[in-house]
Amino acid sequence: MSDIKVYPVQENIAKNALIDDAGYQKMYQQSVVNPEGFWREQGQIVDWITPYTKVKNTSYDPGHVNIKWFEDGELNVSANCIDRHLATRGDDIAIIWEGDNPAEDKKLTFKELHKEVCQFANALKAQGVKKGDVVCLYMPMVPEAAIAMLACTRIGAVHSIVFGGFSPDALAGRIVDSNSKIVITSDEGLRGGRAVPLKKNVDEALANPNVTCIEKVIVLKRTGGDVAWNDSRDVWWHEITENQPVECEPEAMNAEDPLFILYTSGSTGQPKGVLHTTGGYLVYAAMTFKYIFDYQPGDVYWCTADVGWITGHTYLVYGPLANGATTILFEGVPNYPSTARMSEVVDKHQVTILYTAPTAIRALMAKGDEATAGTKRTSLRVMGSVGEPINPEAWEWYYRAIGNASCPIMDTWWQTETGGILITPLPGATALKPGSATRPFFGVQPALVDNEGLILDGATEGNLVMLDSWPGQMRTVYGDHERFEQTYFSTFKGMYFTGDGARRDEDGYYWITGRVDDVLNVSGHRMGTAEIESALVAHPLIAEAAVVGVPHEIKGQGIYAYVTLNAGEEPTPELHAEVKQWVRKEIGPIATPDVLHWAEALPKTRSGKIMRRILRKIATGDTGTLGDTSTLADPSVVDKLIEEKSKVV
Ligand code: PRX
Repeated sequence: MSDIKVYPVQENIAKNALIDDAGYQKMYQQSVVNPEGFWREQGQIVDWITPYTKVKNTSYDPGHVNIKWFEDGELNVSANCIDRHLATRGDDIAIIWEGDNPAEDKKLTFKELHKEVCQFANALKAQGVKKGDVVCLYMPMVPEAAIAMLACTRIGAVHSIVFGGFSPDALAGRIVDSNSKIVITSDEGLRGGRAVPLKKNVDEALANPNVTCIEKVIVLKRTGGDVAWNDSRDVWWHEITENQPVECEPEAMNAEDPLFILYTSGSTGQPKGVLHTTGGYLVYAAMTFKYIFDYQPGDVYWCTADVGWITGHTYLVYGPLANGATTILFEGVPNYPSTARMSEVVDKHQVTILYTAPTAIRALMAKGDEATAGTKRTSLRVMGSVGEPINPEAWEWYYRAIGNASCPIMDTWWQTETGGILITPLPGATALKPGSATRPFFGVQPALVDNEGLILDGATEGNLVMLDSWPGQMRTVYGDHERFEQTYFSTFKGMYFTGDGARRDEDGYYWITGRVDDVLNVSGHRMGTAEIESALVAHPLIAEAAVVGVPHEIKGQGIYAYVTLNAGEEPTPELHAEVKQWVRKEIGPIATPDVLHWAEALPKTRSGKIMRRILRKIATGDTGTLGDTSTLADPSVVDKLIEEKSKVV
């Protein structure tokens, strides 16, 4: 390990940072020795309508998994993100919107945000939305996406955001599972100069006979593009909002009332609705944002994530706004219209904190100097990375080329399920090692276990688990608590299993090695191999499919799909294109296979189980060490697959 570079805490950062290393050590100890006392105090980071008397009531016991935080307190998320800042910083900027087109931007003060959120909350009520109803958002990256989220929280409605890149079928599935009553969308979205037909996709999703729960579709006019209209169902955002009162009393919500549902992929079945509740989530979002990005008044913070992902929930909207921070909401992509767009936006808005993903960093790195041409980026102080392991080479490039070798990088490890960041450096406290997410945040108790669940000590490698709960943890799988227990608490009894593997070094630093289950991480987008396989076998000519991940220079992982056609069918270039298109239509462009391997047969055990280990090795060309193939029903399948691989395009 001696060749690993260590970047000590920068003096200039440490001098002004909220916390130094001694402070971290002390607070961390308190947080794990006495979680109850620690969180009783930290819960005060947000404003409560009814103060809590109870703090932690959690159990990971098999059959009785129960997670409750601050359970007798009442609060409102939108009041915490907006109203409480009005007296002191009402005229400060809450949201800077930067359009896909660099000529378009807009700023909203906390006062303006308050008015917009109240009016839209009143509009939602007028459309029949009540406390506890589920509202589906299928939105582009415009201020109205954040306004709609906050308006839901104001009246106690539960939002379920579906990423605008998902297909009508994927949208329909999520609408049905969450039993959404309303969809909020826009005529079209705009990304990288291209229009995205959001309303058309909603129309298609709602034409699915399984979707019977939607009463209204609220449509925001973004591009003015042509849309079909259903008079009994569709309403324009501006028409239902413009005459609404500009005040709306925030609903007092119990800390454990649902806040939002967000679908994410696992190793089996269809995506799960991850349920987060109100109090613990907000406390955790606010606190992690503050310490991890060392937020100071006057900062301009930019998180490049889409609101359709958990990062867009916690660190684009709720964490920053709960702290009264200025948050940038960017409609576009980091390399449009110029390769240097990300750097240009940093200079234009004098961004001080930048939070982005390794896949974006690698794509820009591939362009070299072009990615920073004509920009200075001297406003930056702290940078962050999220979504997948960042390789040291990309880390170094991010550090030098974007950050001018003067901004510490927070490599933040977390998941949709965790609500907020669990393993991370802190700017003024943690020496950095490129590629390591370093140490646990306050209250977080990671451990590494072997495949039998035995806790491993010292410098070692194993399955990453959490031994105790933190306030931002998901509470259940929406509508299926048994699946929640099964997925996260049954592999290793009494522990939360993350699905990731990790290494811990002699300094106690964690190095995430990636998923140990059948989940892929493609450009930071999480996808289950089972999901892609079921999309493939839904094609009328496909008999069987198996999907594995392969290393990909920009995306981190690429999708390699083995496809067996029905007897008598022959692969053709047309079918190749059609199958790729089919998956895009079933799930969305992010799930498009990078490689299609026409396989005559798949390697199976005598009991019919597909041996993915072998498929992974063949896909990566690692055929020298296939291991024991004698348990295969037909070992000759392997040679055939290797031979076919040479023809794969
Ligand atoms: O494998 C880990 C990877 O992303 C997974 C979680 O994906 P998702 O729920 O979509 O949330 C992404 C944004 C929080 C994890 O199980 N992952 C996330 N951050 C990192 C990471 N892997 C390595 N290093 C990270 N910093």
